[in-house]
Amino acid sequence: MDSKPPEGNHVLAVLGCGFMGTALLKGIFVSTSNAESRVKRYIACVRTEKSRERLQTLFGATEAVEVLCDDNIRAAKEADVVILGFQPTDVKAILDDSSMACALHGKLVISMLAGVSSAAIYQVLETASRRQSNSLEEKFRVVRVMPSIGAQINKSVSLIAEHDLDDENATFVEWLFGSIGAIQKIQEALMDAAVAASATTHALVVTSIDALVDGSVSRGIPRAVALRIAIECMLSASSMLSKGTELAELKDSMSVPRGITTEAWIHLDQGHVRPAISQTVRQAVDYAEGMN
Ligand SMILES: NC(=O)c1ccc[n+]([C@@H]2O[C@H](COP(=O)([O-])OP(=O)(O)OC[C@H]3O[C@@H](n4cnc5c(N)ncnc54)[C@H](OP(=O)(O)O)[C@@H]3O)[C@@H](O)[C@H]2O)c1
Repeated sequence: MDSKPPEGNHVLAVLGCGFMGTALLKGIFVSTSNAESRVKRYIACVRTEKSRERLQTLFGATEAVEVLCDDNIRAAKEADVVILGFQPTDVKAILDDSSMACALHGKLVISMLAGVSSAAIYQVLETASRRQSNSLEEKFRVVRVMPSIGAQINKSVSLIAEHDLDDENATFVEWLFGSIGAIQKIQEALMDAAVAASATTHALVVTSIDALVDGSVSRGIPRAVALRIAIECMLSASSMLSKGTELAELKDSMSVPRGITTEAWIHLDQGHVRPAISQTVRQAVDYAEGMN
């Protein structure tokens, strides 16, 4: 069976099109014109009528999107690329079914499920498929990808686990998640740790901005102005780093004698901010790895 359609003709199904699945679909539409898209048709699957109506309202005007309620197997049959976007607790309920396993055979399955390894998904599908037949013509092709919350505004940092996909499928996965932001390949064994580092970074940025604004307001700066300063400075410092400026170089360039930034660094160190942040990442990683 050759399940690969020509480039640009893919049919993509999202099984569980909630917060992340919707962000992904919206992102692809925003960043790719029809001419550029490698996907000709999308099928978004949900469980409840309420969510079907939500997606219908959102994508109803887009002919290429079909929204299905409680019809995952049909979606899996019609698609050649299937994204798993439901909650990790629903793995068995949705995948441990011989018809589903049969429908997914030989297709590209992209899992966004937090804390579930690609091997675990493979195992569920293989076990389900053997209930129907012992002769597996083709193996399941499962890759694990973790987008981040920035997917809503095409600023995801999507972690793509190492895989053994062929070049065409690998390129497709990179195109798909590249359309909603940055991609970072990573060993699958480090996926949970990297997700925890990403979550901690988001938490830290929000906490830092909140604290910076409070401090600024207490010294008379209007809240809106303080917020703007904090956001823009976060963006400019991280942009310099992302454009290749070294951390040490950036720190050095800010450290002028008797400078305000130097004074700020000393206060941050007195408050043990750096070790507290590192320890928070370590604890978040332990927590994430303990979830499995
Ligand atoms: N949120 C994030 O920032 C984030 C980041 C990375 C990865 N993830 C992962 O992405 C996955 C989804 O997360 P989320 O935040 O998008 O969750 P969510 O908003 O709860 O979405 C889950 C979706 O699954 C649907 N669903 C449940 N059972 C179903 C069934 N039997 N058939 C079809 N659809 C079904 C739900 O439909 P109804 O709405 O009709 O109930 C809902 O739309 C999770 O595995 C999570 O670990 C999330």
